[in-house]
Amino acid sequence: MKQIISALTLTAIACINGHATTADSDFRIVPIPKSIELQSGKPFILTGSTVVSYQDNALQRNAVFLTEYIKDGTGITVSTTQQKTKSNAIQLELVDAGIEPEGYRIAVNDKKITISATDKAGIFYGIQTLRKSLPYDSQADTVRVPSAIINDHPRMSYRGMLLDCGRHFFPVEDIKTFIDILALHNMNIFHWHLTEDQGWRFEVKKYPELTEIGSKRRGTEIGWCCGLNDNKPYGGYYTQDDCREIVSYAADRNITVIPEIDMPGHTQSLLACFPEAGCTGGPYEVSDHWGVHEDILCAGSERTFEIVEDILDEVCDVFPSAYINIGGDEAPKTRWQACPKCQQRISDEGIKASDNRTAESALQGYFTKRVEKYLNEKGRKIIGWNEILESGANASSGIMNRYGEEATIEAAKSGHNVIVNTTAFCYFDYPQRADLRLEPKLFPLGFCIPISRVYQLEPIPAGLTAEEEANIIGVQANVWGEFISNLMLAQYQMLPRMAATCETQWIAPDQKVYHDFMRRLPKMTKIYDTHSYVWCHGLE
Ligand code: ACM
Ligand code: ZN
Repeated sequence: MKQIISALTLTAIACINGHATTADSDFRIVPIPKSIELQSGKPFILTGSTVVSYQDNALQRNAVFLTEYIKDGTGITVSTTQQKTKSNAIQLELVDAGIEPEGYRIAVNDKKITISATDKAGIFYGIQTLRKSLPYDSQADTVRVPSAIINDHPRMSYRGMLLDCGRHFFPVEDIKTFIDILALHNMNIFHWHLTEDQGWRFEVKKYPELTEIGSKRRGTEIGWCCGLNDNKPYGGYYTQDDCREIVSYAADRNITVIPEIDMPGHTQSLLACFPEAGCTGGPYEVSDHWGVHEDILCAGSERTFEIVEDILDEVCDVFPSAYINIGGDEAPKTRWQACPKCQQRISDEGIKASDNRTAESALQGYFTKRVEKYLNEKGRKIIGWNEILESGANASSGIMNRYGEEATIEAAKSGHNVIVNTTAFCYFDYPQRADLRLEPKLFPLGFCIPISRVYQLEPIPAGLTAEEEANIIGVQANVWGEFISNLMLAQYQMLPRMAATCETQWIAPDQKVYHDFMRRLPKMTKIYDTHSYVWCHGLE
């Protein structure tokens, strides 16, 4: 045991008359950079007198991030300067060309560490790499950074993570921590699932009912069977100011917030406020139980579209993202089949059943395209689940594919941008250890998604043309919220599986080697520990 401990402490080697200690930085991190060329020259020594130097005002926030990360990782306090500094400096600089979007180059010699990129995002990821290379648990006085040249850029332009705040509400501070975790994994999209049958979480000034009534439920189902309920009132919502604060916090970290306002299904919280937007006229309640609900927005009523458009006006005011996610998933057609207004719409619009779909399914296409047209006129594109593809929406709309490769191929061939978030690899509400006795009592299915499986996802199927492949712009993992009631549980479900997802998003497939990833993972989990993030230690 003693030997093991002394071997571990060897990383912190005493120097300078036996008092100060130094530890080594190591660039074999998660995600692994595209190329790391170690040089023969002397290392850079990071000390309390090192400065972070930048000249471009646009890099000021990045410079401060780096000082914060160095402090967190090593305890060393460094300062920032706008002066150009010849030695003992970490230089951040924007260059005109030669580096891919969001990519970066790090050059280390004994005088300087230079992080270059053509955009601010690239500087941010160079900083993330330098930060992750630090010896997080060493407590050393100085850090030796090996002389090296690193070149790196991401494989995917959409690197996302969903948090379901409809089923459970996460306070603003917890959302910020969630965003910090995204940034640590080089992710750039926060897909914010804001509305659900069980709660409306986005303040709409024109319709205060949506948060006064729609954000509250009478109780919450316990587990997913047996009709048990805690019968405790539950609620919470984000003001528009909260949302703007989140958008800005995320933007500082190169993260775009894409809000999801799910429709026409998953809308019982809206119907509870506006029964006239439902097929039966209600009354409806904000749901107190899980599962797919049959009451959805009435596609035959003009009032539905008036409310939806008013809501989307305010969503667009608050969220600057190019895409607005309108969901579209899990919309049963039972109510539409029996609704005179929906049937009238089918008849008026000449909507027809075809070999593979009913007239009511085709009516969802009408609904989607009408909302898409409204958002397109406001300069936005829609994104949504697989059902968007069936609707016949424009190729400019994005498809979140939760199914397998065939659906990816179909969407990519039809010219849509595709984001792969296959249930069997990317649904982080599912347990990560096969022995459910070792897991929090969450999702009651026997199906488990261990980190080794998450790592295996290859989002681009074989047999596509280069153009079709280019339509597959991203990968995302989802934290659905039925049983994820707080940040601690969300962290447990995400970590470290997110580290596996982030390599699928960032690195080239031929660089993905699971056992090598597992060797690099402890550097990441030390960072989790430094920030007291909860993570699953029982890796399978
Ligand atoms: C989904 O899993 N309902 C998108
Ligand atoms: Zn109807």
